[in-house]
Amino acid sequence: MDFDLTDEQRLIKETARNFTDNEIVEQAKQNARNHHFDLELVKKLAQQGYLGAIVPQQYGGAGLDYLSYGLVVEEIGRGCSSVRTVVSVQTSLVCSAILKWGTEEQKHKYLPKLCSGEWLGCFGLTEPDTGSDAVKQRTRATKTDSGWVINGAKMWISMGNYAKVALIFAQTDPSLGHKGLGCFMVDTDQPGFQTQVIEHKMGLHASDTASISLEDVEVADEDLLGTIGDGFKVAMSSLDSGRYSVAAGCVGICQGCVEESVKYAKEREQFGRPIASFQLVQAMIADMVVKTDAARMLVWRAGFLKDQGRPNTTETSIAKLYATEAAVECANTAIQVHGGAGYVDDHPVERYFRDVRVTTLYEGTSQIQKLIIGRSVTGINALVPA
Ligand code: CAA
Repeated sequence: MDFDLTDEQRLIKETARNFTDNEIVEQAKQNARNHHFDLELVKKLAQQGYLGAIVPQQYGGAGLDYLSYGLVVEEIGRGCSSVRTVVSVQTSLVCSAILKWGTEEQKHKYLPKLCSGEWLGCFGLTEPDTGSDAVKQRTRATKTDSGWVINGAKMWISMGNYAKVALIFAQTDPSLGHKGLGCFMVDTDQPGFQTQVIEHKMGLHASDTASISLEDVEVADEDLLGTIGDGFKVAMSSLDSGRYSVAAGCVGICQGCVEESVKYAKEREQFGRPIASFQLVQAMIADMVVKTDAARMLVWRAGFLKDQGRPNTTETSIAKLYATEAAVECANTAIQVHGGAGYVDDHPVERYFRDVRVTTLYEGTSQIQKLIIGRSVTGINALVPA
């Protein structure tokens, strides 16, 4: 077993760290304050190759392995979770779906534009009444002579207001359950496709979140991803990539909490000495360090399995569950180390605390991750009545 990164992976991490410090950290506070979805920054992410990091170069991507992608996402997550969400959705949820399920024509049509940032994509699975029970899609796709007509609504869709292409999951025949689901690549300029900004979020203020309504939206046959019946698997396999990306971003939050807390605790003096010299402060920092290391190792393992092409759904859920919960705890602890200073946005820990909270909810709650892990080790599906 080798815990060392290769020289190339170290360089990729260092480059992402510098990019984050120079381009993301500087903007993060103001963008959050102004609730500004920063399209200029999105362009820079694309120029760096971060919007299609795992997409092979022949389709315009950076052709990175998953472990390297995780290193990039960790660094961006340390800088700003709103920016990290752009990378995760575009790369993991949208590009990975097209890469895995698309025809050659579809890959050539969509991936270069997504990787270059010319188009943004969004992932329309969640609905007002459909969250954890993702099979229960109420959005309907009805066959026509030339393609499909879609009617329905989607909710909590990251980048929904800016996306040019939306992966819309829809039911074609409710009697078939998940085998009736399709994934449609919808041009968001189509008549009947409307979005609305979801406001007043606790965190991720610099990230775009939309509700979407679809009224008689037309989709051509060639914009069906996979076949009818594949829709649920398209969603789940994309979430295997998305959950990995969220987990990696959360390692970044943990790392940021450690770095900010160490810096602050060495500067801040009380009782005539830096608070870093107090055992109880060191204990808080040590707790964060342990959680950061453990989360990172779980993310690396999931990335390693993905790179080997081996099954990794359970290991990805373990990484997602642990890293997101660890990041919530680290953000809370980091504020404790900062005291009152951590309660305003002068220090990034205030933003970490607000931004991290959603990570145990989106892309599958912690409870869903536990059910996936529980099913894997017991062989019993807790969601099916005995
Ligand atoms: N990859 C490929 N196929 C998979 C799979 C995977 N990881 N997981 C399951 N499948 C397949 C199964 O093999 C099965 O196929 P067969 O019928 O051919 O055997 C089929 O899918 C159905 O699987 P399950 O029986 O496991 O389905 P389930 O109804 O029990 O659901 C679940 C499982 C884990 C609860 C799932 O519904 C789930 O993950 N729910 C959470 C949804 C979620 O994460 N939503 C997040 C929305 S995205 C988001 O947040 C985006 C954003 O913009 C931020």
